[in-house]
Amino acid sequence: MLRFFNTDKKKEYSDEDICIDLNNIPKHIAIIMDGNGRWAKERNLPRTIGHKAGVEAIREVVKECSILKVKYLTLYAFSTENWKRPKDEVSALMKLLVEYLKKEFKELDYNNVIINYIGDISKLPDLCQKELIISHENTKNNTGLTLNLALNYGGRYEITRAFKLMYEDIKSGKISEEDINEETISNYMYTKGMPDPDLIIRPSGEQRLSNFLLWQCAYSEFWYSNIKWPDFRKEHLHKAIFDYQNRDRRFGSVE
Ligand code: FPP
Repeated sequence: MLRFFNTDKKKEYSDEDICIDLNNIPKHIAIIMDGNGRWAKERNLPRTIGHKAGVEAIREVVKECSILKVKYLTLYAFSTENWKRPKDEVSALMKLLVEYLKKEFKELDYNNVIINYIGDISKLPDLCQKELIISHENTKNNTGLTLNLALNYGGRYEITRAFKLMYEDIKSGKISEEDINEETISNYMYTKGMPDPDLIIRPSGEQRLSNFLLWQCAYSEFWYSNIKWPDFRKEHLHKAIFDYQNRDRRFGSVE
């Protein structure tokens, strides 16, 4: 059973209940969408069908994050390492991305979602770049959930890029050595101006970061599950948020 409550109207509930405190929703949730290939293999289907089924999970999770008033949702959709996959799998993923943006644009916009991307999209096929840029341009003034699609994204690449950009700014005199601190470094990341993820979710049983948001995850809470991404539904999101809300985040302090 799922019950939502506001802290000020807290009700009695049993241990079986999952009660989400709507006043303590994570501002930024990041998800490593994993297990599409294994999901397909279990069903004797091609891996690409697993990715296609994964889009259904994306739809549901984005919608639910909007409803719960999560401010940022970052989805790891294609890593800098994913180019090593067979060509037809890479093409299928790029095609799914374009289809998703085309098909979902209206509803995302209606739901006030800002469509954003992080990563070096210049290496993606032209059509993907075009759809991403148009989707972003047409939703950038919305005020609801920011949906960050991490595409050709790698945490180490992002940090290396930040070093290079900062070096350029030092050379040109825009900033000086004294200006370098954690805040200014954050401003050289793709996630500039966004809060760090409070909660990182990885389904499919793997328990590693896989080069995701390395700079930003210093104090993120991790939530793992054996469920494979195509089977991930809002109930799993609720459980992840519930568990997050029951953790003691101390940020290095004692209280
Ligand atoms: C990891 O599972 C999943 C991916 C690398 C791609 C995720 C992409 C989608 C869900 C759809 C396309 C994206 C958008 C934004 C529409 P895996 O293939 O590594 O699974 P496995 O570990 O079981 O092989």
